[in-house]
Amino acid sequence: MKILVTGGLGFIGSHTVVELVNAGYDPIIVDDLSNSNIKILDQLTKIIGYTPAFYELDLCDEQAVKEFAANETDVKGIIHFAASKAVGESVKLPLKYYRNNFFSLVNVLNAYEGKSINFVFSSSCTIYGQPDKLPVTEDAPVKPAQSPYGNTKQVAEEILKDVIASGSNNKIISLRYFNPVGAHESALIGELPLGIPQNLVPFITQTAIGKREKLMVWGGNYNTPDGSCIRDYIHVVDLARAHVAALKLMEKSTFKGIDFFNIGTGKGSSVLEVIRAFENTTGVKLNYEIAAPREGDIEQVWGDVTKSAEKLNWKARLDLSTMMSSAWDWENYITQNPL
Ligand code: WQD
Repeated sequence: MKILVTGGLGFIGSHTVVELVNAGYDPIIVDDLSNSNIKILDQLTKIIGYTPAFYELDLCDEQAVKEFAANETDVKGIIHFAASKAVGESVKLPLKYYRNNFFSLVNVLNAYEGKSINFVFSSSCTIYGQPDKLPVTEDAPVKPAQSPYGNTKQVAEEILKDVIASGSNNKIISLRYFNPVGAHESALIGELPLGIPQNLVPFITQTAIGKREKLMVWGGNYNTPDGSCIRDYIHVVDLARAHVAALKLMEKSTFKGIDFFNIGTGKGSSVLEVIRAFENTTGVKLNYEIAAPREGDIEQVWGDVTKSAEKLNWKARLDLSTMMSSAWDWENYITQNPL
């Protein structure tokens, strides 16, 4: 069964391609290479044993997307990762984010409207902002977005609801990711931040291997047990498997319309706990310092994942230590084998 994976050479997209093949699907990758590396296609070939179909395509180009859809007519499912996703950058370049994230989504939805497609959308826990109650459930109120990036995820979910309300015969599942970290056990694919990493775990591994001098812990006086921020870190392979579970759920005749699922572990870890887990797992001492809080960070969030366990028939299985060891293996691999 052909599954279109937009943004399929990215961090989460590439790991999802592997899990789709493991589940017997036939992924077709579309990526504009604006924030990914074409060499990941060779890495995927080493893991899955063949080179998946790949098209370099700008999904903001409506005509190009229509031509693609006219050629690839037997696509049964779509997993839509393609989007800009750096919170800080979105504050500086809002129009880049609104153009890229909305044009690509609308063009893909338009091209496949009425084709009974199972559509999985890559959403984010950022739509919850700082929840009033923790763990946060899927029916928690959506808070005003803290960034244009978060706003694009909130509005995208409204677009999806309106498509279903208009009577579309497509089915839609929106997966609200918490913090994806780690890498495939082969260490052949992983997170490839361009330039200075914004996210915690790639900064940890780059500091540990000597690419960065010191990790700054953004904030040590939050109202949390050890003063540092709490997040729900989830192994990227568990996250990838949630996309397969979403396709399987929509393949059931009992699934109709649209639904939303928290994709996390249900457990919060502080920044200092992540550092300690990294040091204990790898034996590498990390050079870090507590610094002032980062603008726009929320204090603490972790997901209630009951609905995902009961309805999506999925739960995270890999622990923080495996997240750290796989991230470290990938950092070592990519340092010795630059793409
Ligand atoms: C995690 C914690 C930082 C770097 C982001 C996106 C979100 C989602 C997941 C896409 C925070 C602290 C970080 C550093 C630090 N992505 N930190 N020093 O901000 O929770 O979420 O990734 O959907 O949309 O916003 O992730 O990894 O940047 O930060 O102390 O050098 O680590 O303050 O508390 P975040 P993050």
